[in-house]
Amino acid sequence: MEKYLGKKEKYLGKKKVAIFISGRGSNLRSIIKYFRKKNSLIKIVLVISNNFDAKGLKYANKSKILNYGFRSKSKLVFENQSLKLLKKHNVDILCLAGFMKILSSNFIKKFSKPILNIHPSLLPKYKGLNTHARAIKNKDRYSGATIHKVTKKLDSGKIILQKKVKILKSDNPKSLEKKVLRIEHEIYPKAIKNFLTNL
Ligand code: GRF
Repeated sequence: MEKYLGKKEKYLGKKKVAIFISGRGSNLRSIIKYFRKKNSLIKIVLVISNNFDAKGLKYANKSKILNYGFRSKSKLVFENQSLKLLKKHNVDILCLAGFMKILSSNFIKKFSKPILNIHPSLLPKYKGLNTHARAIKNKDRYSGATIHKVTKKLDSGKIILQKKVKILKSDNPKSLEKKVLRIEHEIYPKAIKNFLTNL
């Protein structure tokens, strides 16, 4: 049950989620929508972008979620300031949603709470960029999306949830991206919920 404790944002019994984005923020939107219900045990307390102009920040604003966009291009500045904010708001879990920077092992160690990421492929296949073009080039029959834990090794942490989508002969990287994105929106909120329930 939710109970507001005081000036500082402290909701008894609610798990606090922070989300890092870099751009459009369609995954952010699906997560916000999913956890909007009043009796949700999860609260999104903070959205941070390394890109000041990220469209997703506008949506966070509209949803009345505390948000920050960094003008500085320095990764060190971004990581240090973000760490302070995550600590200040007692964040239990950090979710990367279309966040296009690679977090340093120092950041991962210092944050010391779980970090999840969404990747547009069926990991361990196609770590890194251009996943859709690579899957089509290799004539794969399926692609999909993966939610995994973030470790210092890129796109290699424990897999939390994965869903497949069929690649048709008529698909190109753009059409496949669209199909996979739909899957992303479906599975990321569920993965966060399941993960936090078992924490
Ligand atoms: C998604 O496909 C995500 O998997 C990838 O970047 C895209 C971001 O989309 N890492 P959005 O910003 O959530 O709309």
